[in-house]
Amino acid sequence: LLIFYTIIIYQVSPKVEFTNIKCTSLDLSFSSFDYCHIKAVNRSFKYLSLKVKLHKVPITKIKVNIAVLKRFNGYRPFMYNVTVDACRFIRNPKSNPVFSYLYSLFKTYSNMNHTCPYNVSYLGLKIPLKLKPVSFQHDLIVEKLNTQFVNNQVTAVLPVPEGDYIFETNWFAENIQRAVVRVYGTLS
Ligand SMILES: *[C@@H]1O[C@H](CO)[C@@H](O)[C@H](O)[C@H]1NC(C)=O
Ligand SMILES: *[C@@H]1O[C@H](CO)[C@@H](O)[C@H](O)[C@H]1NC(C)=O
Ligand SMILES: *[C@@H]1O[C@H](CO)[C@@H](O)[C@H](O)[C@H]1NC(C)=O
Ligand SMILES: *[C@@H]1O[C@H](CO)[C@@H](O)[C@H](O)[C@H]1NC(C)=O
Repeated sequence: LLIFYTIIIYQVSPKVEFTNIKCTSLDLSFSSFDYCHIKAVNRSFKYLSLKVKLHKVPITKIKVNIAVLKRFNGYRPFMYNVTVDACRFIRNPKSNPVFSYLYSLFKTYSNMNHTCPYNVSYLGLKIPLKLKPVSFQHDLIVEKLNTQFVNNQVTAVLPVPEGDYIFETNWFAENIQRAVVRVYGTLS
């Protein structure tokens, strides 16, 4: 029994590393990235942060696609590729458990969890304590999302095979694609 549990724990204890992040705005008059980076605090603790400035608020229609790619010979779609109407999803997260899971990988480190429309007054209001310093009236941020947190979230659900991955998010507003964020990572 002990051996059995050891094997289980061994198999479901992945180690997540961030290796790169790329944020691309497809329309600079709509949105632009102030920053988008990975920082290493020390050898075992890395985090990523990004900040998007929205230049045309209010936004009433938001669609988000999240896809995971895994490297075989080149990167290929792997397991997840889901698109949601973000406004509807935020109102009812249970409507899409798969997206809910993918969103949970960064949700608590972002200020995206509010209802539509994304407007100026609202963006200024609900600022989770975690997200200080507070200077992002028109901004969407993911702040200091760390590898240990992602590790725990990944472990919580399914064993995921080792390898190189891309966590790709595509952002659409008013039905036009506006931005792409790709996080590159490894699981060992
Ligand atoms: C790395 O930094 C994290 C966060 O500050 C800290 O919790 C951890 O103990 C550090 N690890 C090492 C090996 O210094
Ligand atoms: C996810 O699915 C959409 C729609 O079928 C497709 O356009 C997109 O290329 C897919 N994403 C990836 C990373 O394969
Ligand atoms: C934010 O997330 C929490 C659960 O994590 C949820 O209870 C709450 O309703 C969400 N807030 C909004 C404005 O959607
Ligand atoms: C901004 O959005 C919030 C939440 O949906 C809404 O209550 C508020 O009236 C909106 N404000 C403006 C100026 O549109």
